[in-house]
Amino acid sequence: MGPRFPLLVAALASCLPPALGCVICDTKVVEALKSLEMDYLPGHLETEHHKNLMKRVNQAVQDFKDLPLDEDSYMGVVDEPTLEKASWSLLKDLKRITDSDVKGELFVKELFWMLHQQKETFARYVALFQKDAFCPNKCGMMLQTLIWCSNCQKQVHACRKSMDCGERNVKVHEMEDMILDCELNWHQASQGLTDYSFYRVWRNKSETLLYKGKEPTLIKTMVEPKDAGTYRCQLGTVKSSPATIIRFHVKGCFAIGLRRILDTPLIP
Ligand SMILES: *[C@@H]1O[C@H](CO)[C@@H](O)[C@H](O)[C@H]1NC(C)=O
Repeated sequence: MGPRFPLLVAALASCLPPALGCVICDTKVVEALKSLEMDYLPGHLETEHHKNLMKRVNQAVQDFKDLPLDEDSYMGVVDEPTLEKASWSLLKDLKRITDSDVKGELFVKELFWMLHQQKETFARYVALFQKDAFCPNKCGMMLQTLIWCSNCQKQVHACRKSMDCGERNVKVHEMEDMILDCELNWHQASQGLTDYSFYRVWRNKSETLLYKGKEPTLIKTMVEPKDAGTYRCQLGTVKSSPATIIRFHVKGCFAIGLRRILDTPLIP
């Protein structure tokens, strides 16, 4: 992994006040805790314990974010689907408890045992996100909306990797289609993308724009020998750097011999 990860950890650790936790960034969770206090506690716990219990519950939910900062499991940020999954899991468990109508000390015990387990569930989801969905681009730049667990702020994060997304060798046969595919699997998940541009790159290094638009593939039907050569695609972003650049080296496999036979008139 590149040196950007420790920088992100440092940035997250230094400049943000420790306050909120990730599932608490979801308004559904905030509402559920309010409803627990207003609707469930009366009738299920003596009034004098309400305030202290809610203080401990809020603290426990905020503590979800206090996981060891680690490049492989938790960086203090999540994406929206991960947050959604984690808070759904918590809400489901909370509903199970309130549906059971449990009271008094048993209720308190179950509640905190559940919160303890949900923190582990949160840690598991975040580790999965960190492994598979945090900056999944191997090259180029991906823009990803992340939620900072320490203050619930949403920000677009630029995942910058090596700008070189490689070269592709493409073989084409005469009269067939030439297909140049510029799409990488993370493009669908990236935000702030603009257009794909395809250029023909000439020997003298000058370029001619062939296509600019939303299509990630350039298709030329009925290729001719003159189509062999170098091409370049570039996917733009709303920022100054492009998301992806790929070069294509197109080699023609032209059956000169066969063509000569076919071109020869059958009847002289
Ligand atoms: C470069 O080569 C292409 C194709 O051979 C030609 O059309 C273009 O004018 C050339 N550009 C320069 C700057 O020489």
